[in-house]
Amino acid sequence: MIILGIETSCDETALAVVQKNGDKIDVLSNIVSSQIKLHAPFGGVVPNLAAREHLKNIIPVLESALKKADKKPADIDLIAVTRGPGLIPALLIGVQFAKTLSYAWKKPLLGIHHIEGHIFANFLKKSNLEFPAIALVVSGGHTQIVLIKKMFDYQIIGETLDDAVGEAFDKVARMLGLNYPGGPEISRLAEEFKKESISAKIILPRPMLNSADLNFSFSGLKTAVLYLIKNFRQDRRLSAEDQLPESFVREVAYEFQESATDVLIKKTLQAVQHHQARTVFLAGGVSANQTLRDKLKSQIAKKLPQTEFILQPVEYSTDNATMIAIAGAYRWESFSPEEKKVAEENWINLQAEAQIKLG
Ligand code: KG4
Ligand code: ZN
Repeated sequence: MIILGIETSCDETALAVVQKNGDKIDVLSNIVSSQIKLHAPFGGVVPNLAAREHLKNIIPVLESALKKADKKPADIDLIAVTRGPGLIPALLIGVQFAKTLSYAWKKPLLGIHHIEGHIFANFLKKSNLEFPAIALVVSGGHTQIVLIKKMFDYQIIGETLDDAVGEAFDKVARMLGLNYPGGPEISRLAEEFKKESISAKIILPRPMLNSADLNFSFSGLKTAVLYLIKNFRQDRRLSAEDQLPESFVREVAYEFQESATDVLIKKTLQAVQHHQARTVFLAGGVSANQTLRDKLKSQIAKKLPQTEFILQPVEYSTDNATMIAIAGAYRWESFSPEEKKVAEENWINLQAEAQIKLG
């Protein structure tokens, strides 16, 4: 089957055409129009600006996606769109666009949970997965450990009590005077620090590393960075406007990344052990982080060699519509004829939701 995926939950207008034959998935096109430049001056995504930009770009992005895939509307079997969670003005554009296409093209429509999409990005690599699986979900809005007992059966067994880890990367980057979004910047500077091969002197806390549960907390780590920078400025008589020396910024970026990844990995391994998981996934924008990928991979190989670790290509870590199309295809194929009938009515019934539970 051929699926058109649509994702507009945040600041990427993304459309993809994906083909699924049995367990074989081919990405025919994957177009992502990023709004990073538009939101950068504000240090974060402005919801109404994002919606206007989606509105401007969504038809040209659809045209490119169809053209690149060399497909016509008549070739599409299913439309899958992110229905939430996310920024409501942004979601509404994608959902209304998908409903309009579904109506005009007479194609069934499915609304997909954004995080389920991130999880299904991993199906690009391998489809005959063994359950139970553990997914570490790390994005700008979510930090969760999800137990997947079987296909579509999700249980959140650990999560952040305050900030999402991606949000912490972005806020720490801002404190260090780096550009938005901060995750990739922190990651780049941390890699530079590693190449210098000098041992780090800065030590940051690992919040909740030894707590008995599988939860996280990143706001204390963020505050620790704030005080570190404050003290550094005071000691060197730097004003709040003075730029921080590059060597200091690199070292803070490195140590922050080490701290965040240490806690994420320790809790994930605990969850895998406790639930005897056969498979581990990494999902969400922060899974683009090379240190997180490498550390988790090597820890699993070392401590849990029976567990398979699945990782999607980096370009499918951050928001994209391929992941939404894949999740839509798997959902559709699991449907009974009655459920398929319901999906055919989604051109009128589907609603965008800012907050929805995974499952
Ligand atoms: O999944 P995503 O694209 O959007 C949401 O659903 O939130 O995730 C975006 C988050 C941002 O916080 C961004 O800074 C972070 O993912 N991110 C990274 C990296 N690339 C993106 N964080 C750490 N290292 C990266 N290389
Ligand atoms: Zn996301």
